[in-house]
Amino acid sequence: MKKIFNLETKNLVGREVVLFGFVNSIRDHGKLFFFDLKDRSGIVQCVISQENNYFGSVKEIKNQSVVMVKGQVQQRPPHLANPHLPTGKVEVVINEIQILSQPKTLPFEVDSDGYEIDEALRLKYRYLDLRRARLQNNLRKRHEFLLFIRNFLDAHGFIEIETPILTKSTPEGARDYLVPSRIYPGKFYALPQSPQQYKQLLMVAGLERYFQIARCFRDEDPRGDRQPEFTQLDMEMSYVNRDDILSLVEKMFVEVINQLYPQKRIKTYPFPRLTYEEAISIYGSDKPDLRNDPNDPNELAFAFIVDFPMFEVVNDKLETMHHPFTQPRLPDGKSDRDALFNALEKSPESLLSEQYDLVLNGYEIGGGSIRTTDPEILIKVFEILGHERGEVEEKFGHLLEAFSYGVPPHGGIAPGIDRILMILNNEPNIREVIAFPKTGEGRDLMMNSPSEIEKKQLDELSIQIRQVEN
Ligand code: AMO
Repeated sequence: MKKIFNLETKNLVGREVVLFGFVNSIRDHGKLFFFDLKDRSGIVQCVISQENNYFGSVKEIKNQSVVMVKGQVQQRPPHLANPHLPTGKVEVVINEIQILSQPKTLPFEVDSDGYEIDEALRLKYRYLDLRRARLQNNLRKRHEFLLFIRNFLDAHGFIEIETPILTKSTPEGARDYLVPSRIYPGKFYALPQSPQQYKQLLMVAGLERYFQIARCFRDEDPRGDRQPEFTQLDMEMSYVNRDDILSLVEKMFVEVINQLYPQKRIKTYPFPRLTYEEAISIYGSDKPDLRNDPNDPNELAFAFIVDFPMFEVVNDKLETMHHPFTQPRLPDGKSDRDALFNALEKSPESLLSEQYDLVLNGYEIGGGSIRTTDPEILIKVFEILGHERGEVEEKFGHLLEAFSYGVPPHGGIAPGIDRILMILNNEPNIREVIAFPKTGEGRDLMMNSPSEIEKKQLDELSIQIRQVEN
């Protein structure tokens, strides 16, 4: 007999089946003993009566025992059917049962939605926490979402390309996570804050349409919508303008939501476009919540924010609002290279940029821009940010040189997958849609990281730890 999934039993009345799974909600009625068997497809009720040889051993099962059940699917009497379960009209009458693994008492319930349980405890035992239906559904939806997007982008001429994780520091705005090199003592790789430079170099290479479900790493203080490592749908395209990129992204989100979240209503389509100035002056935020009713979990209010200033003042210094690779633009919209240079020299704060953000229900769920492909303008932007020309050539020489060999005009965007799924799954924070997230303090309580490493490993890396206070 072949193993089948619990869900299949609903169509197999009268048949012998073999099922595997975890035991849930045991009900001992004396002569009859019931439990729910849970596998990845769902739940089916199992029952054994006292005449059966296995009746004695079935009494040893506990909540969350791992078992194999052989039995016959039978129709339940109509008044005992459970309309809330897909398999609610049937049950499996056990002929034989084997306990494959006996659990200790779990540190918490796994059949509730889990919000009531201390999150640190849930994260310490994440492998148990992930047994709960809510989290399994979140992970399955994440899989379906990514699968849909891969197929969508494939159908639109994109290819997925992996870029390195061991890379070099990039100016994305956060601190880098650094990885010491053993072979080159005193030198470090940086984990990517995003694949920004690689995707631009793929445009120089002539790939034209790139995407990647890309893990990004940023050493910044975590919060509800921020993790030290998170996932972007990273995209880049050649020979496109802003509208091409925005309408493709819009189409992709509308299609994936219609397919996977049909209960959701997109408030306005095409997505409204607000200038940065409008957003700030009307809503006081560059990620306004445009829902009619913020208490409605099914309302999705997307918007694109455009025409950002190129620079902002942070601690008395000019910084780029997006990143330095973004094309600056004259406020009057003219494309006059000399006038642009002049403005970069004399009044950089007056410049706008080709940055655009995608916002949803008050969250920034994506950012991107048309890029600067003129090496001199790029160098100028870096100089405004306080880098010496020599330093720019040392740090970004590869990109500047690449552009000197002929560079297609290009631009891209990177929606943050975790934030989008948090909103679509009505979750209060992004940890609920990530299999193994870090805590708000950046720790992995299950693996217990970050952790100390052995002296031998430090020696190999030529690293010495100064006295640290714990
Ligand atoms: P940006 O820095 O705006 O752009 O990031 C793009 C999107 O990534 C998400 N995001 C995060 N999600 C979870 N945790 C974090 N710590 C975190 N940081 C960012 C947000 C954000 O909108 N390379 C550019 C993209 C481009 O120009 O094409 C970039 O990374 O949803």
